[in-house]
Amino acid sequence: MNLFDVYPLFPITPVQAKGSWIWDDKGVKYLDLYGGHAVISIGHTHPHYVQAVTEQLHKIAFYSNSVQNPLQEQLAEKLGALSGYPDYQLFLCNSGAEANENALKIASFQTGRKKVIAFKKAFHGRTSGAVAATDNPKIVSPFNNGHEVVFLPLNDETALVDTLDETVAAVIIEGIQGVGGIQVPEDSFLQLLERQCQQHGALLILDEIQSGYGRTGRFFAHQHAGIRPDLITMAKGMGNGFPVGGVLINSRIPAWSGMLGTTFGGNYLACVASLAVLEVIESERLMENAGSQGAWCIAALKQQKSLLDVRGRGLMIGFDLPETQKTVRNNLLMQHHIFTGEAKPNAIRLLPSLAVSREELELFMAALADEIIGV
Ligand SMILES: Cc1ncc(COP(=O)(O)O)c(C=O)c1O
Repeated sequence: MNLFDVYPLFPITPVQAKGSWIWDDKGVKYLDLYGGHAVISIGHTHPHYVQAVTEQLHKIAFYSNSVQNPLQEQLAEKLGALSGYPDYQLFLCNSGAEANENALKIASFQTGRKKVIAFKKAFHGRTSGAVAATDNPKIVSPFNNGHEVVFLPLNDETALVDTLDETVAAVIIEGIQGVGGIQVPEDSFLQLLERQCQQHGALLILDEIQSGYGRTGRFFAHQHAGIRPDLITMAKGMGNGFPVGGVLINSRIPAWSGMLGTTFGGNYLACVASLAVLEVIESERLMENAGSQGAWCIAALKQQKSLLDVRGRGLMIGFDLPETQKTVRNNLLMQHHIFTGEAKPNAIRLLPSLAVSREELELFMAALADEIIGV
């Protein structure tokens, strides 16, 4: 049987990883500054994480959500404390798209409305509602495009005020746009969004799937703007590679039995993986590390005169390369053995583990300087 051929693949086969490093089947060592799409939050194969998942595997790996699972409550407790949302409710699921799909559904249940406002260049996942709120017509099938979604330019206050009214169920926005090329919403725009949603009875959904979990130096990127959304979605860094997602839900939104559901969401292994991630973020002060290493890296990149528009917060960093330098990302990987991400048309994205060191970032800066001069 062939695999359904949807992914363009690098000719690299990773077989082992530790911290910010990956080894392939030929013994070649790579510096990972991308974390497999921002997933590796505490570093590959962190010993505390490996121990927690291994021990749980020997006890019980799975039962359905029809029995008591105290690990879910422990996770909710720890997540509430570390994120600054102890008064919110937690719904656990398995991926980013599923988290957004459920958040959109909750907003629609709560308001009785169905129109959604999303933003140009947004990416929210590939399930029905999430992909309809994603600004990429190529991946929206005719089956998905029946949803009522309006796309507005990011940071356009006038367009927002003109469009948001009593027919809107939800506004969905990324804490920082990832796939769109690290586009940062202005703090004042997020604050206006919060006020406008409250005024018109629409729910504000913050998609923190890529920008959350300590990556920007705060637990969630929107916390830099001092807002408190109605719904916050998470995945990626939450499980450091174990598939897990979640929705934080304001306590004024009531749940009813059967309102949402998933077979695998909140399973034992996902809970211990997520708990281990939070424990390491706390004990190794990884949010502080993300803030300070990220600030250093952004400042260092800004000194490279041939890079255009260096942007981001903490360890969510993007910059554009001139048209003539389209091969830089590939060369970084194939010649310098450094994984980075891309964004169309010619941007590079850095999403390293929150534990990345100054020395590792310096290695990258030297390789980048080499490439830029070499082109
Ligand atoms: C901001 C954002 N939302 C949602 C998703 C979808 O997450 P998943 O691929 O886990 O469904 C992604 C994935 O890249 C993302 O970056």
